[in-house]
Amino acid sequence: MESTEKKVPQHVSIIMDGNGRWARERGKERVYGHLNGVESVRAVTEESVAQGIKYLSLYAFSEENWNRPQEEVGYLMELMMKSIAGEFENLMKNGVRFVVLGNRARLSATLNGAIDTLMEQTKDNPNLTLIVFLSYSGKWDILQAAKKLALAAVNDPHVLDNLQIQDFDDYLVTAGVPDPDLIIRTSGEQRISNYLLWQGAYSEFYFTDVMWPDFRKEAYREALAEYARRDRRYGKVK
Ligand code: FPP
Repeated sequence: MESTEKKVPQHVSIIMDGNGRWARERGKERVYGHLNGVESVRAVTEESVAQGIKYLSLYAFSEENWNRPQEEVGYLMELMMKSIAGEFENLMKNGVRFVVLGNRARLSATLNGAIDTLMEQTKDNPNLTLIVFLSYSGKWDILQAAKKLALAAVNDPHVLDNLQIQDFDDYLVTAGVPDPDLIIRTSGEQRISNYLLWQGAYSEFYFTDVMWPDFRKEAYREALAEYARRDRRYGKVK
């Protein structure tokens, strides 16, 4: 891109990883890592607002995560519920709009109710959209989009005439959300783990050995500084 490109990403997405290992290293249960991970969520949210980032998305729970021990799944859902209940004032103060995307049919009615309430209460907040991906996977998203498109085409075959790649975006759960400019993964793992497979086609990747509970403002600023040094060409030559 031209040198005039703004170096602050519009959309940062994070694969929060390493909570379990962080806790084990301290001789604690895995859930202790998740608990401390919530503090990192708060830190990166605040820093995103401070940096003028417009979208921050977090891979909080994948479709595959349902296969973890029932006790851990239960704890994570409870933690999600508590965080949602406790964050209202903070989100309002920082002007953050809260959104949950994913296979919400798998979440409990209580959790879905709390999510809907917080989404409604924060919908006009102007500074940052915080997207929490819950029960999400990239392949699931593409499949549900393909199903919606197939249904639309059954009703009106002309839907397929001149269908462009950008038109498919509208069937994904992220419709209206710009693709992530930067995807960060913590804890030293270097893979996409069925995350934003379609949307991440041209994302910059940043991997760090820092475990998620330790990923606070300073570590985040380092990732953003690295992004600012990247040269994005989108397959073109300069
Ligand atoms: C990855 O660590 C983390 C998760 C699967 C859960 C992330 C959830 C939170 C930080 C809690 C709440 C989130 C919000 C948005 C309020 P891991 O368990 O895979 O760690 P490991 O790789 O060391 O086992």
